[in-house]
Amino acid sequence: MEKLVKKAKDYVKQLRDEEPTGHDFHHALRVYNNALYLSVGKDVDLLVISLAALLHDLDDPKISSKDSHLAEDFLKQNLEEKKQREVMDIIESISFTKQKHGVYPESLEGKIVQDADRLDALGAIGIARCFAYTGNKQKLIYNESIDDDSAIAHFYQKLLNLDIYMNTTEAKIIAENRIKYMKNFLEVFFNEWR
Ligand code: ADP
Ligand code: NI
Repeated sequence: MEKLVKKAKDYVKQLRDEEPTGHDFHHALRVYNNALYLSVGKDVDLLVISLAALLHDLDDPKISSKDSHLAEDFLKQNLEEKKQREVMDIIESISFTKQKHGVYPESLEGKIVQDADRLDALGAIGIARCFAYTGNKQKLIYNESIDDDSAIAHFYQKLLNLDIYMNTTEAKIIAENRIKYMKNFLEVFFNEWR
């Protein structure tokens, strides 16, 4: 297992070392570490969790081409078919957009990886990732509205509400703390803005 996880880390590092929108190698690594933390004391398949966490963003249509299948390519070469399916099911079910369309991860492994990914959208790193993403997509920092597509608007449209969507109690507690910090950040931001 350790060898395969190491191989997956190397694969993601090689592909996403220079990714500038917040979906870089270190994001994958943090999601992996978050997921291992959330797995403590739970009866789960750590190999499935590790691979899903590490590979989860490789084929995100926001950053890859529509027909990209980098995660599947890796799994096909390295894992038995049943486990390949388990990992792919998680990757395909965890995004927020999918959830809006009524697709949820069914396995506990999937719920954990989803929480782990969402935690990385919160706190100081979450703030940094939001500005990296929006800057990269040529969006504004803020345009005095929370209904447009600025970075600050995205806090209100999604980030500040992520705690309600957490599957595990452990992630919910961490999320609430990170959101408190983000609300402090916004208070300072608006003071300076004025
Ligand atoms: P992940 O897939 O890793 O959960 P996302 O792909 O949703 O993360 O986006 C990465 C970061 O970019 C998010 O944490 C968020 O801050 C920001 N982001 C994503 N979509 C938008 C958007 N439509 N407008 C502004 N910021 C966004
Ligand atoms: Ni992600």
